[in-house]
Amino acid sequence: MQEFPTIRPRRLRMTPILRDLVAETAIKKQKLIQPHFVVEGTGQVQEIKTLPGICRNSVDELVKQIGRDLELGIRNHILFGLPEAKDENGSGVSGDNALVCRALSEVKKAFGKDVNLIPDLCLCAYTNSGHCGLVSPDGEILNDETNVLLARAAVDYARAGADMIAPSDMMDGRVRAILHALDGAGLTNTPIMSYAVKYASAFYGPFREAAHSAPSSGDRKSHQMDMRNAREAILEACQDAAEGADIIMVKPAMPYLDIIAELKNRVHQPLAAYQVSGEYACIAFAAKAGAADLQAVALESLTAITRAGAEIILSYFTRQLHAENWI
Ligand code: PBG
Repeated sequence: MQEFPTIRPRRLRMTPILRDLVAETAIKKQKLIQPHFVVEGTGQVQEIKTLPGICRNSVDELVKQIGRDLELGIRNHILFGLPEAKDENGSGVSGDNALVCRALSEVKKAFGKDVNLIPDLCLCAYTNSGHCGLVSPDGEILNDETNVLLARAAVDYARAGADMIAPSDMMDGRVRAILHALDGAGLTNTPIMSYAVKYASAFYGPFREAAHSAPSSGDRKSHQMDMRNAREAILEACQDAAEGADIIMVKPAMPYLDIIAELKNRVHQPLAAYQVSGEYACIAFAAKAGAADLQAVALESLTAITRAGAEIILSYFTRQLHAENWI
């Protein structure tokens, strides 16, 4: 007698309708965040060699770009300030006249509540050392002193129009310091999206080229996480959650899907993942070389990150996904 398979999973794969019906994962447009690089000057739209399709914009051009993005339906925007002047104390990170503050207030003036503006908060683009914190004369990063500066900048960002603050520096205790400062300033409704689990990753290469923020000496291994550690990610995530972070982020995304999956069951805050510059560049340049189908590979990567457990994704594919109606 002929043997028949008892279970035939192929039955539910026979038509697109069936496949959609049983699909466990869906990428959602409203969960994607578009990154922007802001530079001084006017009329600046500078292509970034290492990030094809992504530009550095002066504030006036940023307003126009976000206007076009809004028409595509992109509402969440993370801003990276790239000032011309850097100094030892990273003083350009805060103050009413800080580049990011001007960008925030101009974009808010133009679009108000239609946009969710999230400034990245870190000293690395503002210090001439390129480090994420103040550096002592003997080259050590000063954790607690850095927190004071981050907290001050967070208040300035919130006052300038930030809807959310995203600290990416990896200093210990900075979420608490920032929330304390925001509370003290009466800014109790500004959420924190914490880069809680940020690995010392070689996948940040294109970003550092875009932001001119590579450390002039040394590396970030004294504050960013060691790629060999997974349990430590739980410690970092739980710590930031306990300090009051509203959203917990893992970064990079694709090489750390195990971490995302693990944290999904450990933290009760929404979980975000940053598909970083190097992840984007790998796909974008492979596609340019004819070695990958850009849309298919990008969607597969975003689906994998979502399937692992990330609800929110920061991705350089956000604009193209919207513009070309990938989903
Ligand atoms: C700033 C910061 C970095 C990224 C986001 N915020 C760079 C770094 O830590 O070196 C990386 C983002 C990307 O690679 O797309 N601290």
